[in-house]
Amino acid sequence: ELVKGINGLEKVVLREGRGCSVEVYLYGGHVTSWKNNRGEELLFLSSKAIFKPPKAIRGGIPICFPQFSSHGSLEQHGFARNRFWSIDTDPPPFPTNTTYKTFVDLILKPSEEDNKIWPHSYEFRLRITLSPGGDLMLISRIRNTNLDGKPFSFTFAYHTYFSVSDISEVRVEGLETLDYLDNLEEKELFTEQGDAITFESEVDKIYLSTPTTIAIIDHEKKRTFVLRKEGLRDAVVWNPWDKKAKAMADFGDDEYKHMLCVEAAAIEKPITLRPGEEWKGKLEMSTVPSSYCSGS
Ligand code: BG6
Repeated sequence: ELVKGINGLEKVVLREGRGCSVEVYLYGGHVTSWKNNRGEELLFLSSKAIFKPPKAIRGGIPICFPQFSSHGSLEQHGFARNRFWSIDTDPPPFPTNTTYKTFVDLILKPSEEDNKIWPHSYEFRLRITLSPGGDLMLISRIRNTNLDGKPFSFTFAYHTYFSVSDISEVRVEGLETLDYLDNLEEKELFTEQGDAITFESEVDKIYLSTPTTIAIIDHEKKRTFVLRKEGLRDAVVWNPWDKKAKAMADFGDDEYKHMLCVEAAAIEKPITLRPGEEWKGKLEMSTVPSSYCSGS
Protein backbone atom coordinates (compact mmCIF):
# COMPACT_ATOMS: atom_id res chain seq x y z
CA GLU A 1 0.00 0.00 0.00
CA LEU A 2 1.43 3.36 -1.11
CA VAL A 3 0.16 6.37 0.83
CA LYS A 4 1.12 9.98 1.45
CA GLY A 5 3.15 10.47 4.62
CA ILE A 6 4.51 13.57 6.33
CA ASN A 7 4.84 16.60 4.01
CA GLY A 8 3.20 14.59 1.23
CA LEU A 9 6.24 12.29 0.91
CA GLU A 10 5.18 8.84 -0.25
CA LYS A 11 5.50 5.80 1.96
CA VAL A 12 4.79 2.10 1.60
CA VAL A 13 2.90 0.39 4.43
CA LEU A 14 3.33 -3.36 4.94
CA ARG A 15 0.91 -5.20 7.23
CA GLU A 16 0.75 -8.72 8.67
CA GLY A 17 -2.10 -10.24 10.66
CA ARG A 18 -3.38 -7.92 13.32
CA GLY A 19 -1.36 -4.95 14.32
CA CYS A 20 2.07 -5.68 12.86
CA SER A 21 3.21 -3.12 10.34
CA VAL A 22 6.23 -1.52 8.73
CA GLU A 23 6.39 1.89 7.05
CA VAL A 24 9.01 2.81 4.46
CA TYR A 25 9.49 6.22 2.87
CA LEU A 26 10.59 6.25 -0.77
CA TYR A 27 12.67 9.23 0.29
CA GLY A 28 15.82 7.56 1.55
CA GLY A 29 14.43 4.02 1.17
CA HIS A 30 13.94 4.76 4.83
CA VAL A 31 12.03 2.53 7.27
CA THR A 32 10.41 4.89 9.80
CA SER A 33 8.14 2.51 11.72
CA TRP A 34 8.01 -1.14 12.80
CA LYS A 35 5.12 -2.14 15.05
CA ASN A 36 4.41 -5.41 16.84
CA ASN A 37 1.01 -7.04 17.24
CA ARG A 38 0.20 -4.86 20.23
CA GLY A 39 0.69 -1.81 18.03
CA GLU A 40 3.85 -0.87 19.97
CA GLU A 41 6.48 1.03 18.04
CA LEU A 42 9.84 -0.74 18.08
CA LEU A 43 11.91 1.89 16.28
CA PHE A 44 12.79 5.34 17.54
CA LEU A 45 11.77 8.29 15.36
CA SER A 46 12.59 11.77 16.64
CA SER A 47 9.64 14.05 17.34
CA LYS A 48 11.77 16.70 15.66
CA ALA A 49 12.64 14.66 12.56
CA ILE A 50 12.64 16.82 9.44
CA PHE A 51 10.87 15.20 6.50
CA LYS A 52 12.28 17.51 3.90
CA PRO A 53 14.99 16.78 1.31
CA PRO A 54 17.95 16.98 1.45
CA LYS A 55 17.82 16.42 5.23
CA ALA A 56 17.88 12.72 6.16
CA ILE A 57 15.09 11.56 8.47
CA ARG A 58 16.22 11.37 12.13
CA GLY A 59 15.31 7.91 13.37
CA GLY A 60 14.04 4.66 11.88
CA ILE A 61 16.57 2.99 9.58
CA PRO A 62 18.64 5.33 7.41
CA ILE A 63 20.67 3.52 4.75
CA CYS A 64 24.32 4.63 4.76
CA PHE A 65 25.73 4.10 1.25
CA PRO A 66 28.19 4.37 -0.46
CA GLN A 67 30.01 5.79 2.55
CA PHE A 68 29.64 5.30 6.27
CA SER A 69 30.03 8.46 8.38
CA SER A 70 32.96 10.65 7.29
CA HIS A 71 35.17 7.70 6.17
CA GLY A 72 35.72 9.17 2.68
CA SER A 73 35.21 12.26 0.56
CA LEU A 74 31.42 12.09 0.20
CA GLU A 75 28.82 13.76 2.43
CA GLN A 76 28.33 12.22 5.90
CA HIS A 77 26.85 8.68 5.56
CA GLY A 78 26.75 8.94 1.75
CA PHE A 79 23.76 9.95 -0.33
CA ALA A 80 21.37 6.95 -0.44
CA ARG A 81 19.52 8.26 2.62
CA ASN A 82 18.51 11.47 0.88
CA ARG A 83 17.64 10.23 -2.58
CA PHE A 84 14.22 9.20 -3.87
CA TRP A 85 14.02 5.45 -4.42
CA SER A 86 11.53 3.77 -6.76
CA ILE A 87 9.35 0.71 -6.24
CA ASP A 88 9.98 -2.39 -8.30
CA THR A 89 6.43 -3.40 -9.25
CA ASP A 90 7.58 -6.80 -10.55
CA PRO A 91 10.19 -7.96 -8.02
CA PRO A 92 11.84 -11.37 -8.19
CA PRO A 93 10.03 -13.82 -5.87
CA PHE A 94 11.43 -15.29 -2.67
CA PRO A 95 12.75 -18.84 -2.96
CA THR A 96 9.73 -21.14 -2.85
CA ASN A 97 10.70 -22.70 0.49
CA THR A 98 10.04 -19.51 2.50
CA THR A 99 6.77 -18.30 4.00
CA TYR A 100 7.49 -14.63 3.32
CA LYS A 101 4.95 -12.82 1.22
CA THR A 102 4.78 -9.28 2.65
CA PHE A 103 7.61 -7.30 1.18
CA VAL A 104 8.53 -4.41 -1.06
CA ASP A 105 11.58 -3.97 -3.27
CA LEU A 106 12.96 -0.44 -3.58
CA ILE A 107 15.52 0.43 -6.22
CA LEU A 108 18.17 3.12 -6.26
CA LYS A 109 20.21 3.92 -9.36
CA PRO A 110 22.50 6.90 -9.80
CA SER A 111 21.28 10.06 -11.48
CA GLU A 112 23.57 12.14 -13.69
CA GLU A 113 24.11 14.46 -10.74
CA ASP A 114 25.05 11.48 -8.52
CA ASN A 115 27.58 10.38 -11.12
CA LYS A 116 29.39 13.67 -10.70
CA ILE A 117 30.04 13.02 -7.02
CA TRP A 118 30.47 9.22 -7.27
CA PRO A 119 31.30 8.19 -10.84
CA HIS A 120 29.90 4.67 -10.79
CA SER A 121 26.93 2.90 -12.15
CA TYR A 122 25.08 0.52 -9.83
CA GLU A 123 21.75 -0.96 -9.00
CA PHE A 124 20.82 -1.07 -5.32
CA ARG A 125 17.86 -3.31 -4.53
CA LEU A 126 16.55 -2.99 -0.98
CA ARG A 127 14.02 -5.65 -0.02
CA ILE A 128 12.03 -4.89 3.12
CA THR A 129 10.08 -7.85 4.48
CA LEU A 130 7.65 -8.21 7.37
CA SER A 131 7.48 -11.88 8.33
CA PRO A 132 4.27 -13.61 9.48
CA GLY A 133 5.90 -13.63 12.93
CA GLY A 134 6.38 -9.85 12.90
CA ASP A 135 10.14 -9.91 12.24
CA LEU A 136 11.61 -7.19 10.08
CA MET A 137 14.13 -8.32 7.46
CA LEU A 138 16.20 -6.06 5.24
CA ILE A 139 18.17 -7.41 2.30
CA SER A 140 20.39 -5.11 0.26
CA ARG A 141 21.72 -6.26 -3.07
CA ILE A 142 24.18 -3.90 -4.69
CA ARG A 143 25.41 -4.64 -8.20
CA ASN A 144 28.20 -2.97 -10.11
CA THR A 145 26.74 -2.03 -13.52
CA ASN A 146 29.75 0.00 -14.68
CA LEU A 147 30.27 -0.31 -18.42
CA ASP A 148 33.81 1.04 -18.29
CA GLY A 149 35.15 -2.12 -16.65
CA LYS A 150 35.96 -0.35 -13.38
CA PRO A 151 35.47 -1.86 -9.95
CA PHE A 152 34.12 0.28 -7.11
CA SER A 153 34.35 0.14 -3.33
CA PHE A 154 31.89 1.27 -0.70
CA THR A 155 31.12 1.16 2.98
CA PHE A 156 27.64 0.55 4.30
CA ALA A 157 25.39 0.57 7.37
CA TYR A 158 21.80 -0.07 8.37
CA HIS A 159 21.72 2.84 10.81
CA THR A 160 18.91 1.38 12.96
CA TYR A 161 17.50 3.51 15.79
CA PHE A 162 15.88 1.16 18.32
CA SER A 163 13.27 2.45 20.72
CA VAL A 164 14.24 1.75 24.35
CA SER A 165 12.49 2.70 27.58
CA ASP A 166 15.55 4.05 29.39
CA ILE A 167 19.06 3.96 27.96
CA SER A 168 20.64 3.56 31.40
CA GLU A 169 18.76 0.25 31.83
CA VAL A 170 19.80 -1.18 28.47
CA ARG A 171 22.39 -3.89 27.88
CA VAL A 172 23.90 -5.03 24.60
CA GLU A 173 25.20 -8.58 24.33
CA GLY A 174 27.44 -10.03 21.63
CA LEU A 175 30.07 -7.27 21.46
CA GLU A 176 32.04 -8.00 24.63
CA THR A 177 35.79 -8.70 24.25
CA LEU A 178 35.78 -7.33 20.66
CA ASP A 179 38.11 -4.75 19.15
CA TYR A 180 36.54 -1.41 18.29
CA LEU A 181 37.35 1.95 16.79
CA ASP A 182 36.21 4.83 18.96
CA ASN A 183 34.98 7.86 16.99
CA LEU A 184 35.34 9.99 20.10
CA GLU A 185 39.03 9.12 20.45
CA GLU A 186 40.73 9.90 17.14
CA LYS A 187 39.71 6.49 15.75
CA GLU A 188 42.15 4.53 17.89
CA LEU A 189 41.77 0.79 18.31
CA PHE A 190 40.51 -0.44 21.69
CA THR A 191 39.35 -3.76 23.10
CA GLU A 192 36.07 -4.16 24.99
CA GLN A 193 36.09 -5.86 28.38
CA GLY A 194 34.24 -9.07 29.13
CA ASP A 195 30.96 -7.58 30.37
CA ALA A 196 27.85 -6.79 28.34
CA ILE A 197 27.81 -3.18 27.09
CA THR A 198 25.89 -0.65 29.21
CA PHE A 199 25.44 3.12 28.82
CA GLU A 200 26.22 6.07 31.01
CA SER A 201 27.64 8.64 28.56
CA GLU A 202 28.05 9.39 24.86
CA VAL A 203 29.11 6.39 22.78
CA ASP A 204 30.17 6.21 19.13
CA LYS A 205 32.05 2.97 18.46
CA ILE A 206 32.64 0.67 15.51
CA TYR A 207 33.02 -2.91 16.70
CA LEU A 208 35.04 -5.03 14.29
CA SER A 209 34.46 -8.59 13.08
CA THR A 210 31.34 -9.02 15.18
CA PRO A 211 29.34 -12.24 15.60
CA THR A 212 26.24 -12.71 13.42
CA THR A 213 23.89 -12.30 16.41
CA ILE A 214 23.63 -9.27 18.70
CA ALA A 215 21.00 -8.71 21.40
CA ILE A 216 19.69 -5.46 22.88
CA ILE A 217 18.10 -6.11 26.24
CA ASP A 218 15.64 -3.49 27.46
CA HIS A 219 14.99 -4.24 31.13
CA GLU A 220 12.12 -1.91 31.80
CA LYS A 221 10.08 -2.96 28.78
CA LYS A 222 11.20 -6.56 29.31
CA ARG A 223 11.86 -6.71 25.61
CA THR A 224 14.91 -8.02 23.81
CA PHE A 225 15.73 -7.18 20.23
CA VAL A 226 17.64 -9.92 18.45
CA LEU A 227 19.66 -8.88 15.41
CA ARG A 228 20.96 -11.43 12.94
CA LYS A 229 23.16 -10.24 10.14
CA GLU A 230 24.93 -11.64 7.09
CA GLY A 231 27.58 -9.97 4.98
CA LEU A 232 27.99 -7.23 7.58
CA ARG A 233 31.08 -7.77 9.70
CA ASP A 234 30.99 -4.63 11.78
CA ALA A 235 28.53 -3.11 14.25
CA VAL A 236 28.28 0.55 15.19
CA VAL A 237 26.88 1.54 18.57
CA TRP A 238 25.83 5.16 18.88
CA ASN A 239 24.07 7.30 21.45
CA PRO A 240 24.67 11.07 21.34
CA TRP A 241 23.86 11.62 25.06
CA ASP A 242 22.81 15.03 26.40
CA LYS A 243 25.35 17.48 24.96
CA LYS A 244 25.31 16.23 21.36
CA ALA A 245 21.52 15.83 21.58
CA LYS A 246 21.18 19.53 22.33
CA ALA A 247 23.42 20.38 19.38
CA MET A 248 21.22 18.49 16.89
CA ALA A 249 18.34 20.58 15.54
CA ASP A 250 16.29 17.55 14.53
CA PHE A 251 16.58 15.66 17.84
CA GLY A 252 14.83 16.44 21.16
CA ASP A 253 17.06 17.33 24.11
CA ASP A 254 15.95 14.31 26.18
CA GLU A 255 15.32 11.86 23.37
CA TYR A 256 18.71 10.21 23.77
CA LYS A 257 17.24 8.40 26.79
CA HIS A 258 14.80 6.54 24.56
CA MET A 259 16.94 5.42 21.65
CA LEU A 260 19.98 3.38 20.82
CA CYS A 261 21.57 2.90 17.43
CA VAL A 262 23.05 -0.53 16.80
CA GLU A 263 24.07 -0.58 13.17
CA ALA A 264 24.90 -3.67 11.14
CA ALA A 265 27.68 -2.42 8.90
CA ALA A 266 30.61 -3.03 6.56
CA ILE A 267 33.16 -0.33 7.34
CA GLU A 268 36.63 -1.51 8.27
CA LYS A 269 36.98 -3.63 5.12
CA PRO A 270 35.17 -1.80 2.32
CA ILE A 271 33.25 -3.96 -0.15
CA THR A 272 34.76 -4.02 -3.65
CA LEU A 273 32.70 -5.11 -6.65
CA ARG A 274 33.90 -5.67 -10.19
CA PRO A 275 31.44 -5.01 -13.03
CA GLY A 276 28.67 -7.59 -12.93
CA GLU A 277 29.37 -8.57 -9.32
CA GLU A 278 26.76 -8.26 -6.63
CA TRP A 279 27.02 -7.90 -2.85
CA LYS A 280 24.34 -8.94 -0.40
CA GLY A 281 23.92 -7.57 3.13
CA LYS A 282 21.11 -8.94 5.26
CA LEU A 283 19.70 -7.85 8.62
CA GLU A 284 16.91 -9.69 10.43
CA MET A 285 15.40 -8.18 13.54
CA SER A 286 13.04 -9.90 15.92
CA THR A 287 11.85 -9.31 19.45
CA VAL A 288 11.57 -11.57 22.47
CA PRO A 289 8.89 -12.06 23.63
CA SER A 290 8.14 -12.28 19.95
CA SER A 291 5.16 -10.73 18.30
CA TYR A 292 2.97 -13.20 16.47
CA CYS A 293 0.92 -11.45 13.86
CA SER A 294 -0.88 -14.30 12.23
CA GLY A 295 -2.71 -17.22 13.72
CA SER A 296 -4.67 -16.85 16.94
C1 BG6 B 1 26.63 7.36 13.68
C2 BG6 B 1 28.04 7.86 13.64
O1 BG6 B 1 26.53 6.18 12.95
O2 BG6 B 1 25.77 8.34 13.13
C3 BG6 B 1 28.11 9.16 14.42
O3 BG6 B 1 28.90 6.89 14.18
C4 BG6 B 1 27.13 10.17 13.87
O4 BG6 B 1 29.43 9.67 14.38
C5 BG6 B 1 25.74 9.55 13.86
O5 BG6 B 1 27.12 11.32 14.68
C6 BG6 B 1 24.64 10.44 13.29
O6 BG6 B 1 24.96 10.92 12.05
P1 BG6 B 1 24.00 11.91 11.31
O7 BG6 B 1 24.71 12.32 10.05
O8 BG6 B 1 22.74 11.16 11.00
O9 BG6 B 1 23.74 13.06 12.23
